[in-house]
Amino acid sequence: MTTLILLAAGLLQLCAGNQEPPPLPDRIAVVGAGIGGSAVTYFLQQQFGPQVQIDVYEADRVGGRLATLTVNNQQYESGSPSIHSLNLHMQDFVKLLGLKQRREVAGRSAIYNGDQLVLEETDWYLLNLFRLWWHYGISFLRLQMWVEEAMEKFMRIYKYQAHEYAFSSTEELLRSLGGEHFVNMTQKSVAESLLGIGVSQRFIDDVISAVVKANYGQSVAIPALVGAMSLAGAQGNMWAVEGGNKLVCSGLLKLSKANVLHAKVTAISPHTSEKNPLYEVHYDQEGARGSELYNLVIVAAPLHKSGYQISFSNFQPPIQAPVHSYHRVVTSIVHGYLNASYFGFPDPKLFPFTSVLSTDSPDSIFHSLENLCPINVSVGFRRKPPQEAAVWRVLSPRPLDRRELKTLFKSYYSVQVIEWQAFPSYGSSGSSRPLPPIILHDGVYYLSGVEWAATSVEMSSVAAKNVALLAFNRWFERTGKIDQQDLLHKLKTEL
Ligand SMILES: Cc1cc2nc3c(=O)[nH]c(=O)nc-3n(C[C@H](O)[C@H](O)[C@H](O)COP(=O)(O)OP(=O)(O)OC[C@H]3O[C@@H](n4cnc5c(N)ncnc54)[C@H](O)[C@@H]3O)c2cc1C
Ligand SMILES: *[C@@H]1O[C@H](CO)[C@@H](O)[C@H](O)[C@H]1NC(C)=O
Ligand SMILES: *[C@@H]1O[C@H](CO)[C@@H](O)[C@H](O)[C@H]1NC(C)=O
Ligand SMILES: *[C@@H]1O[C@H](CO)[C@@H](O)[C@H](O)[C@H]1NC(C)=O
Repeated sequence: MTTLILLAAGLLQLCAGNQEPPPLPDRIAVVGAGIGGSAVTYFLQQQFGPQVQIDVYEADRVGGRLATLTVNNQQYESGSPSIHSLNLHMQDFVKLLGLKQRREVAGRSAIYNGDQLVLEETDWYLLNLFRLWWHYGISFLRLQMWVEEAMEKFMRIYKYQAHEYAFSSTEELLRSLGGEHFVNMTQKSVAESLLGIGVSQRFIDDVISAVVKANYGQSVAIPALVGAMSLAGAQGNMWAVEGGNKLVCSGLLKLSKANVLHAKVTAISPHTSEKNPLYEVHYDQEGARGSELYNLVIVAAPLHKSGYQISFSNFQPPIQAPVHSYHRVVTSIVHGYLNASYFGFPDPKLFPFTSVLSTDSPDSIFHSLENLCPINVSVGFRRKPPQEAAVWRVLSPRPLDRRELKTLFKSYYSVQVIEWQAFPSYGSSGSSRPLPPIILHDGVYYLSGVEWAATSVEMSSVAAKNVALLAFNRWFERTGKIDQQDLLHKLKTEL
């Protein structure tokens, strides 16, 4: 009899919704304050609310691969310079933070094959199309359609995320956007995929290889999805943040009232308590060691051999930390006079290009060369004429020596060199390499693995929102919002 009453009372309580809501996490740690770490901090705060304390560990500089440096009292982007116009999260951040977009100042590009310029952009858009068509015929149209199709599928993510859907792996995310075919784009190479749709080998060698090289310092063996994203960027409509792209990172951290610690995370280990699993984050702050406990830990720093190592100790079963290698790209910011003769223009006044991309030729000492605009451009800003000293950004596979600098530049006032562990070393794809996991342990998430599917400021932002939603949905057991397929159809009928 008494059990029955108790049961009935329990039922009543359930019906009245008197059940205690699950508690919020007390504390969350985010490792890394690049755009991935800053964005995930902001999205976590949005999801869990302001009561949750978020600590952000940054070993080096807030902004990570978004960085600036100073030449002659002006600042320039030294890391990622530009953002695509379809990058909706970045556009939102800029609006939210009261920042401004800085449109790219128009300029013309050319492609250099180590010997001569093989393709020159003109001022006249139609003439460009005509030339590409003349040289490469239908290849050019097929390429455009291929890139547009990939971007259209990718853009679906914004709608899914607006409805709080999350994915437990990058493969699941891609599958929901474009099915198995889209997942396969992370395994097949750009070259193989383009040949498959009938793009000519010559077009791939002359044009695609230069764009891919200029973007990633790698060959057309990189995965198709990575290639499609960079080709979307090559079609123009790029912008940057007035005052520097890194302002988005510091702005988001401030807005989230996060506690930023200048410390290097060295290890993450489980710490068992009776109720919730906790994690201990071990760090090194100017030589002093410390550790703190958290309910959730988000690793928003790429785990690679040349980065700061993080060990995952005492996990049962052990965590196989996905440690890969990253590709080095050297950025040299040169203030000086370009040697236009090197590109076949003995009279520098007649050199009309603001950027030169190099094809994948073994003789080429550089990947790309670009005349930079400062991070603040006034309304009347115009680029320096080619015979005047300007600030150039040279991307190369290794640091340029004096002789190489003297070849590319007639003379220069200064050179500043930054070596980036810039992108995953994609190597040759086709070997069916699985993408790194997102969930490393119950409450430990890895954001940066997304770079193996594609790498850009926006990919990190999309991954940040996904991880924040995933952590939130899993915390409150909202399983209906995780790994749902056929969302395109579902959302259509829901609306
Ligand atoms: C030269 C160059 C050009 C690029 N061009 C473009 C472009 O035109 N368009 C585009 O969209 N993208 C471009 N990118 C790529 C873009 O910069 C990256 O995809 C993006 O910035 C990655 O952001 P993230 O936050 O994921 O990683 P990161 O910016 O690398 O941030 C990770 C942070 O974690 C910190 N960290 C690492 N380990 C630890 C640890 N153990 N403890 C504490 N902190 C740690 C690091 O110091 C770093 O600040 C370019 C990159 C480079 C290098
Ligand atoms: C994806 O790749 C697998 C293995 O290579 C293949 O069997 C499958 O047909 C591909 N699917 C699509 C839709 O391209
Ligand atoms: C550059 O732009 C940023 C953001 O708009 C602004 O805060 C900064 O004062 C500007 N700097 C200069 C030198 O104009
Ligand atoms: C410029 O390029 C030309 C042609 O490659 C080369 O002969 C010359 O040495 C280079 N350097 C200078 C300083 O002109």
